Amino acid sequence: MDIKTEIQRLKKEKNAVILAHYYQPMEIQELADIVGDSLELARKSKNTDAGILVFCGVNFMGESAALLCPDKRVLLPAPEAGCYMADTITPEDVRRLKTANPDSTVVCYINSTAAVKAECDVCCTSSNALKVAKSVDTDSIIFVPDKNLGAYVASMVPEKKFIFHEGGCCKIHDKLSAESVLKEKALHPNADILVHPECNGKVCALADFLGSTAQIITYCENSDKNEFIICTELGVTERMRALMPDKRFYIPDTKQLYCDMMKKISVEMLYNCLKNETGEVVIEEGLREAALKPIERMLGI
Ligand code: 13P
Ligand code: SF4
Repeated sequence: MDIKTEIQRLKKEKNAVILAHYYQPMEIQELADIVGDSLELARKSKNTDAGILVFCGVNFMGESAALLCPDKRVLLPAPEAGCYMADTITPEDVRRLKTANPDSTVVCYINSTAAVKAECDVCCTSSNALKVAKSVDTDSIIFVPDKNLGAYVASMVPEKKFIFHEGGCCKIHDKLSAESVLKEKALHPNADILVHPECNGKVCALADFLGSTAQIITYCENSDKNEFIICTELGVTERMRALMPDKRFYIPDTKQLYCDMMKKISVEMLYNCLKNETGEVVIEEGLREAALKPIERMLGI
């Protein structure tokens, strides 16, 4: 049996679609019907008419799809794949920040659990964080959990006061050093530096372009340049090498930019999940209603 052909057959038989984030291994991206950044995946999960969504990503992404699609079953090939950033904050942390700053709007990065989202007013992703922050009608914003994305947004929206959660970040992006980026730039002086806003402030300051995974891909597709230094997880670079074979993509620190959580899913795991319908995301109805509100408010902006 050819496992990839079998996956295609099962998809048809079960009216299922496979969604994958850009950080997934290339062989998973190649099997997916929909590949995207976290905003695109949330939007597109809502718009498909499949009965089963097999979600290849970390578990907050599957949870977001399940919140948006109560009429569909969302299956995770690796339900144990969490997100280091989402694990940096609890619902109690958000409640504490709200008590200390009662007149603030709570903006919550989508890289968070449903229980944390349920405490927040509006979600954002790295593609729309600025737009969301500007849309808020209070003078003060509690921005959780990512202090790096939050600092970038705060620098672009100086008219508002921002409150952050201590220690909230992605340990993969946050630890990429400015020195390693500069070293790569010295080797490739004509390359543009493209940075995901989860990187620390020193790396963000070096960026020719700062954006989400999808925005980084689009930038490279539309650019007249041929060389790029990519400061985000390796999956994005792999995808661009496949999409744009004539352009050159450099990685400043291959070891640091590897998200082991995003790389847990193998083709066998995807096949078993689809065949046996395992790893279903189940969210209790009260929690679903509360956690859905900030996502829907974001999608309406
Ligand atoms: P995007 O919103 O750019 O897809 O990023 C998600 C993520 O997990 C970044 O580390
Ligand atoms: Fe989470 Fe960081 Fe992995 Fe993105 S790269 S999924 S933020 S741990």
